[in-house]
Amino acid sequence: MNLKHCYNFQQFRRLARKRLPGPIFHYIDGAADDEVTYRRNTEAYEECDLVPNVLAGVEDIDMSTTVMGKKIDLPLFLSPTALQRLFHHEGEFAVARAAEAHGTWFGISSLGTASIEDVGAAISTPKMFQLYYHKDKGLTNSMIERCKEADFDAIALTVDTIVGGNRERDLVTGFTSPPRLTLGSALSFATHPRWTMNYLFRKKFELSQLKDYVDEGTNISLSISDYFSTMLDQSMDWKAAEEIRKDWGKHFCLKGIMSVDDARRAVDIGATAIMVSNHGGRQLDGSRTPFDQLAEIVDAVGDKVDVICDGGIQRGTHVLKALSVGAKACSGGRLYLYALAAAGRAGVEKSLSNLRTEIERGMKLMGARSVGELSRNNLRYRNTVS
Ligand code: LAC
Repeated sequence: MNLKHCYNFQQFRRLARKRLPGPIFHYIDGAADDEVTYRRNTEAYEECDLVPNVLAGVEDIDMSTTVMGKKIDLPLFLSPTALQRLFHHEGEFAVARAAEAHGTWFGISSLGTASIEDVGAAISTPKMFQLYYHKDKGLTNSMIERCKEADFDAIALTVDTIVGGNRERDLVTGFTSPPRLTLGSALSFATHPRWTMNYLFRKKFELSQLKDYVDEGTNISLSISDYFSTMLDQSMDWKAAEEIRKDWGKHFCLKGIMSVDDARRAVDIGATAIMVSNHGGRQLDGSRTPFDQLAEIVDAVGDKVDVICDGGIQRGTHVLKALSVGAKACSGGRLYLYALAAAGRAGVEKSLSNLRTEIERGMKLMGARSVGELSRNNLRYRNTVS
């Protein structure tokens, strides 16, 4: 199997599994506790059916939408994710350039492996920075300042990751950043020589936003869960979020909002977007899914902030369902990460092309010429008593 034959999420996942040493693959693929929420994130879309309209004259489809003041060419963007250079040596640059080629938002993480400045300079399309609120305020502030200097368009403050989730696959494989050679993982690295050579002989691995402040993650190996639990400031509250919003001064998004009350408070502190997200099921297992939670959040704040449905997206029809409920756009991590691992930039571009084609075909079959024509009239939930 190769890139040419990757038509969908599962095929990219299979190829990524082949290309990556086990601990790296399972870091992407795994989630918290029993991974119930992770599975449910996708299953939720399958409990809701599309009801198409026909004879709508659909030869020209406009799938653009506007998120945080920026018009994007497709109603889907690439959520910021950590450690991308571990998945493919092109790392964040591959993802950023693929987002640019598809005219959509790209996000870089506080735990990114390329710098805010270098990635910022590489693309001209909208870019957001995913901020983790560290105990070290010098570090937190330095990231905000660097985003101002590099003219980023938005900051997304992660609010669902105040401690690391219980990722048992990482405990089993011993996954750390930077990767540590253990007796258990040695075989896996040895049997993936291409990955191992790229890791050892290309640019030295680093967490570019963090390395001048903390050694952990760049020079000292530790698990991502331990990183979060020891480095992040658990006293973060609404006041802190509002202060960041004011200091930043541009578009501000809260990533990881799930309750209506929190969505309202996000509006109160001046957020311009919220990502309805449970962090890909990697934090609180048993949490409800973004898609299931979407309608009540859209009803409460959909006219005041851009509501993004983040998580579980594997198909274009999943995007259509979220848009029909009222999301401005969807986003996801694994939907491009397996593709990154499989084939770098070409992989990410292909995964986005596949999804774009599916969204376009789906809109035509739904009789929707623009995303604004999708509505709850197009949906029916199963198993509901009404
Ligand atoms: C994770 C963080 C880094 O889920 O976003 O692993």
